[in-house]
Amino acid sequence: MCGIIGIASYKDISKEILDSLKKLEYRGYDSAGISTINNGEIVENKCAGKVSDLEKLIKKTSLSGNIGIGHVRWATHGAPNQANAHPHSSEEVSVVHNGIIENSAIIKKELIDKGHIFKSQTDTEVVTHLITENLKKMNYLESVFATLNKLEGSFALGIIFKKFNNLIVGARRGSPLAVGYTDKEKYIGSDSYALNSMTKEVSYLDDGDVCVLTKDKIEFFDKNKKKIEKKIHKLANDEDVYSKGNFKDFMSKEISEQPEVIKKCINEYLDKIRKEINIVNFPVDPKKITKVNLIACGTAYHACAVGKYWFEEFTNIDVSVDVASEFRYRNNKIKTNELYIFVSQSGETADTIAALDFCKKKGAKTCAIINVTESSLSRLADLVLPIHVGPEVGVASTKAFTGQILVLLLFILKIARIRNEIKEEEYLNIIKDLENIHSNVALILNNKKIIEDLAVDFIDIKGSMFLGRGLSYPIALEGALKFKELTYLHAEGYPAGEMKHGPLALVENGMPVIVIAPKDRFYEKTISNMQEVIARGGKILLISDHADEVATSENIWSEIRIPKIHKFLSPFLSNIPLQLLAYYVALKKGNDIDKPRNLAKSVTVE
Ligand code: F6R
Repeated sequence: MCGIIGIASYKDISKEILDSLKKLEYRGYDSAGISTINNGEIVENKCAGKVSDLEKLIKKTSLSGNIGIGHVRWATHGAPNQANAHPHSSEEVSVVHNGIIENSAIIKKELIDKGHIFKSQTDTEVVTHLITENLKKMNYLESVFATLNKLEGSFALGIIFKKFNNLIVGARRGSPLAVGYTDKEKYIGSDSYALNSMTKEVSYLDDGDVCVLTKDKIEFFDKNKKKIEKKIHKLANDEDVYSKGNFKDFMSKEISEQPEVIKKCINEYLDKIRKEINIVNFPVDPKKITKVNLIACGTAYHACAVGKYWFEEFTNIDVSVDVASEFRYRNNKIKTNELYIFVSQSGETADTIAALDFCKKKGAKTCAIINVTESSLSRLADLVLPIHVGPEVGVASTKAFTGQILVLLLFILKIARIRNEIKEEEYLNIIKDLENIHSNVALILNNKKIIEDLAVDFIDIKGSMFLGRGLSYPIALEGALKFKELTYLHAEGYPAGEMKHGPLALVENGMPVIVIAPKDRFYEKTISNMQEVIARGGKILLISDHADEVATSENIWSEIRIPKIHKFLSPFLSNIPLQLLAYYVALKKGNDIDKPRNLAKSVTVE
């Protein structure tokens, strides 16, 4: 992953570059670094840890310059230490990189044979040495193109030069890169979010593009070195939504925003008078769709898994759900009468983009359900459905999941209506409950203290299991994912009916098992599975909307009661206590809530 920034200015850029790196930290926080041109020399400042650590270092060493590049790292090649932190510099150039150079080992060997001495274990350092080598016989632009021609893999690069000390070169293949403009400064950045406090005008590099920026202008070249023009996009003025406000962290803010974002998203899509869902321009005629393929990673994949149940419930369309990193390498038989739906909060997840690209190249029609509308995925898909939940900053996805399942449901209901596969009465009932769902989410959030109190009992556990059936099975998976990524405690999501086929062996006296059992057609079966766990000593936390005396027997450790709603809408409610549980356990353990260890928000490497 990693985040990169570059600024060419008429004034000192130290503060701007540090501020931009703080905004990019969601892409990685293993190390941070900056290179500037100062008195004709490349000056590098870098350290392991977060941008706040870099800030402390810079206070001691001082940083200045009008031209600079910066980086936050999510380690791929080499441990997260100071030597492997970017930028990687030689006497002549300094480089920041996001992505992976797949043939770095071969290039490194060739360069060592030519006398180059490497200081890090990173793949990036070969770029530094290759450009340095090429500069012996070429100008800066030729040396960059010659270097790019040798590289395999995916990357976005920012490069500064000792001898060409008024410019920055940016290059993109696979990993995103935006450029920004003002009269007096020009920028490159991994995304527009990093740039939007400095400029509201951006362009995006396409694969193979190279840009050269000075404080006065930006020039673009395609992969054949031909000069090209780029469209300028205007960014929205939404700086304040990136603030934590009165919240301790972004995650708690984002969890609490869910009632509002649900309302907003429904308003965007639903004609409240006619009860019609405003989705048009389907890339495949809904009446002719033979199969739908849902593809995503992580939490977004769990949203797709919820979508599969809804597709099967409301339409007669075949559905498959795939993790993008598996989908892209399988021998998939892509068909043009099937619809390929990609779900992603960031719209920059490398595996999801590659899977979409794979489908497009085979002539398939694609739809993207995304949060970041200026993302790569939204520029590539035939139909883009935004989830309208606003920026999600906490690494653990919360409100985006809710937005993803909401838009998936609206999309599925729309298709079901067009195909005449859902009864009018059922459709209207669902719409009615959907319009109210925000208040039910708010009810759960108002009672969060109950979950905060329960969290104490999870701090010292060895591990836990999250169980559900039907629509609650993907919610169990999502609950377990949230729990492990925030608390660093082992958690496994499982279909409740599968426990006796192996995982029951894990259950021992006192092991917490979270059972999600709303009153749907799986309820009785889930409760039986729960009793099997209780019989082996499992300590049950039941999440249900059902006040059944038998189910809530004395054998249960605790219960979180969620409001009763339409049986197909339970995921919107049952997921909320699981987000809160993960949050409070992590908080009580003293973990970094918004930046869990080893992770990053936007996964731009495969
Ligand atoms: C978990 C989480 C990740 C993301 C995954 C896909 O809380 O956030 O699992 O869901 O990395 O990211 P997007 O949705 O940006 O494609």
